[in-house]
Amino acid sequence: MPSERALLREEILKFKEDRHAIILSHNYQRDEVQEIADFVGDSLELSRTASTIDCDVIVFAGVNFMAESASILSPDKTVLLTEIDAGCPMADMIHVDSPRRERKSFPGFHNPPPFIYPLEFTLRDIKAQYPGVPVVAYVNTTADIKAESDICCTSANVVKVIESLPDETVICIPDRNLSMWAQRNTKKRVITWDGFCHVHERVRSEDVDKARKDHPKALLMAHPECRAEVLEMADHVTSTSGMLRFAKASSEKEFIVGTEIGLMYRLRKENHDKIFYPLRKDMICPTMKKTTLNSIARALKENSYIIKVPEDIRVPAKGALDRMLGVS
Ligand code: 13P
Ligand code: SF4
Repeated sequence: MPSERALLREEILKFKEDRHAIILSHNYQRDEVQEIADFVGDSLELSRTASTIDCDVIVFAGVNFMAESASILSPDKTVLLTEIDAGCPMADMIHVDSPRRERKSFPGFHNPPPFIYPLEFTLRDIKAQYPGVPVVAYVNTTADIKAESDICCTSANVVKVIESLPDETVICIPDRNLSMWAQRNTKKRVITWDGFCHVHERVRSEDVDKARKDHPKALLMAHPECRAEVLEMADHVTSTSGMLRFAKASSEKEFIVGTEIGLMYRLRKENHDKIFYPLRKDMICPTMKKTTLNSIARALKENSYIIKVPEDIRVPAKGALDRMLGVS
C-alpha cells in the first residue's frame, strides 16, 4: 500500500502535468516541499527562474514577496502562493507612506555612515530627505516598495548592485544588517533602514562562541541578515545558495550554518561526506514552514492563492527587478 505522502506526491505530479505548472521552492522550505519542487534556490535564482521559465502556472512555495516578484516578472502566468498568510515580517517593516507608528521628530542628518533610518518613517520621507539618491530595495519588500525604488538587490548581489550605480550615496532598504554588511564592503555611503529578520537577528556572538567551542574544526557560514557582530566572526558571508556553493567547493569537512535550518536539507543531500551543524537550532522561519505537500496539492486543485500585482505597481516594480537582473 503506498503511503499517504506517496499518494499526495502522485496527486501533485498529475495536477502539475494537467496544468502545465512548475513548482518553485525557496531553500528554507520543508524537506518534502523541496523534494517535489522543480527548482529550489535563493531569492536571486528564483527571480531569474520565474522570469524565464516556460509554463502556464507557477506554484510558489515560499513567502509572499517571492510570489509577487514572480507575478511582476511573468504577468501572463498564473502565480499561486501555497499559503496566503506566508509573509515576511521584515518586508512589512517599511511602507511607502502612511506610517503605522506615531511619528517622532526627524533625526539629524549628520550621523556618520551608515545612517540607520527609524521604522516610524516611510520610504517617501527618506526619499524627500535625499532627493536624487537612488533607492536599492532588498527583494524582501512588497511590490509597492519595489515600484518606488530604483533597483532591487538580494543577499547574493547587494554589493555588486550598489557598485553598479554611478552615485556615491545610496539608500538601501529595509534590512539594517544587510545594509551595514554592504557598507563594510563598499566605499560608497549607505543610508539604511532599521528593519531586520527576526530569525537571523536572534543570533549573538555568544552563539558563535558556543558553536566554535562545540565544533572547533568547522567553518562558519553566515547569512548577511545576521547581526554585524556575528558576520565579523564568520569565515564566509553569503546568500543561502552561496553557502551551498561554498560548502561544495571547500576541502573542509565541517560547517556551522548561520541561517534558517531549512538549508540543512540541501547541504546534507548534496554533500554526503561533510557534516553541517546549525548555528542555532531555533533559526526557523515560521512563515516559510507553513507550506506542506497538502498546501501544494490544494493550490493546484483550487487555483489558490492567486497573486496578481496591479499594472500601475507591476510596471515600475519590474523596472527595479529587471535592473537588478541586468547587473547580476
Ligand atoms: P536568500 O536570498 O539568501 O535565499 O535569502 C532569502 C531570505 O529570506 C533570507 O532570510
Ligand atoms: Fe523574512 Fe527572515 Fe523569513 Fe527570510 S527568514 S522570509 S527574511 S522572516
